[in-house]
Amino acid sequence: MDVSDLASVRAVASELKGKPIDLLLNNARVGGPRGQTIGNIDYEVSARVLDVNTLGPIRVAEAFVDNVAQSERKLIVTITSGMGSIGDNTSGGAFAYRSSKAAVNMVMRSLAIDLAPRGITCVVINPGWVRTDMGGPHATLTTAQSVKRLRRLIDTLGPAQSGRFSSITTVANTPGRSRLIVGAIKSDTLIKHQSFGGETLTSDNVFGTVTRTLDFTRASRGCL
Ligand SMILES: NC(=O)c1ccc[n+]([C@@H]2O[C@H](COP(=O)([O-])OP(=O)(O)OC[C@H]3O[C@@H](n4cnc5c(N)ncnc54)[C@H](OP(=O)(O)O)[C@@H]3O)[C@@H](O)[C@H]2O)c1
Repeated sequence: MDVSDLASVRAVASELKGKPIDLLLNNARVGGPRGQTIGNIDYEVSARVLDVNTLGPIRVAEAFVDNVAQSERKLIVTITSGMGSIGDNTSGGAFAYRSSKAAVNMVMRSLAIDLAPRGITCVVINPGWVRTDMGGPHATLTTAQSVKRLRRLIDTLGPAQSGRFSSITTVANTPGRSRLIVGAIKSDTLIKHQSFGGETLTSDNVFGTVTRTLDFTRASRGCL
């Protein structure tokens, strides 16, 4: 279905009417052209990016909310991006894409609150830098690696995590050192200042993947 087309989304919802959906995953995205800046902004394309990336997940959630409510897991997961972080934006550009991801984080935070009475959990997850058409060939994770870690993370989600932001993040590496770390950060300081299992991680002594769980307010203060 085309998530920017309400009729298309509703048509699929009508086919699936009455069927439980344990996990509703919003993954679709468009990026828009690169290099847009003041004097050079394509407003039509920018509106399209917001339409797909922010309004798309709302259309889908609205159309399938009854299916999710009927299921056992009752999960709505939306794939977001570190580029949606205001505090982490040190390179500028990508107005539309960045805004669409910041906005969808806010949408899902509100949905988490609005849908809590129906037992539905809403979470946004940054999948890491992944070798897809978007991520390109130099990304640090293969699609299989990212999906494996996403699945592992999604398995742990429930009402206690609703309204949260999680991230699968590859930490800078030193050749010859390799380890995998999965944990939950307890505060909003940067990863290089964090302690996992009593050991402090720094960006130059760890190679691995860290699953970070933060709430949106912390994320928007600049951690991710
Ligand atoms: N790759 C990364 O490094 C990375 C990093 C951070 C976050 N993410 C997020 O991860 C998710 C997946 O990204 P990706 O890397 O797989 O992106 P991608 O390679 O650009 O693929 C985007 C997918 O979205 C689909 N799509 C686009 N517009 C659509 C619409 N209107 N309705 C339905 N489907 C539509 C595309 O389908 P068609 O091919 O048929 O157009 C394509 O399958 C996105 O939410 C992205 O923002 C990715």
